[in-house]
Amino acid sequence: MNTIFHARRWAAIALIASASLLLDGTPAKAGNPEKGRAIAEQHCSRCHVIAKHNPFGGIGSTASFQMIAKMPDYRERFETFYARRPHPAFLRIPGIPRWSKQPGYAVEFKLTLEQVKDIAAFAETLVTMPIKRKRKK
Ligand code: HEC
Repeated sequence: MNTIFHARRWAAIALIASASLLLDGTPAKAGNPEKGRAIAEQHCSRCHVIAKHNPFGGIGSTASFQMIAKMPDYRERFETFYARRPHPAFLRIPGIPRWSKQPGYAVEFKLTLEQVKDIAAFAETLVTMPIKRKRKK
């Protein structure tokens, strides 16, 4: 994929994300963490470990949500995950262009940008969730 394509995609996403602010002049509503948790359990737990919901679930190539929530830029990651690989291959968001015409390699699902905000609000509740790791002796 070339750089211009990437830049255009991000510009389109930024435009759409700020549309609600521009249209009615009031700041976009904050997400609802409870709704975000339900969405994450329904759609994301197929591949990610979602806090206490599926501690032994997920696939090996994904970080758990509680791990991602420990990163300094976790908010940005959760607010833009739909444009970060691999999600555009199987996640549809109105107004966000598809990566290709090929069918998704995983079962496709749809979300709205409102629901993305709910997921980000849920991620915020995981920032302080302890992560247990065995110490090497
Ligand atoms: C079909 C599998 C699959 C599903 C379903 C899925 N993800 Fe992911 N996700 C991945 C993989 C694989 C990665 C790691 C990508 C990488 O390292 O490049 C990832 C990475 C992420 C990241 C970190 C992105 C980054 O660039 O740091 C976030 C945030 C994320 N996913 C959120 C979600 C959310 C929220 C959902 C549900 C709405 C979801 N994912 C559903 C496979 C999936």
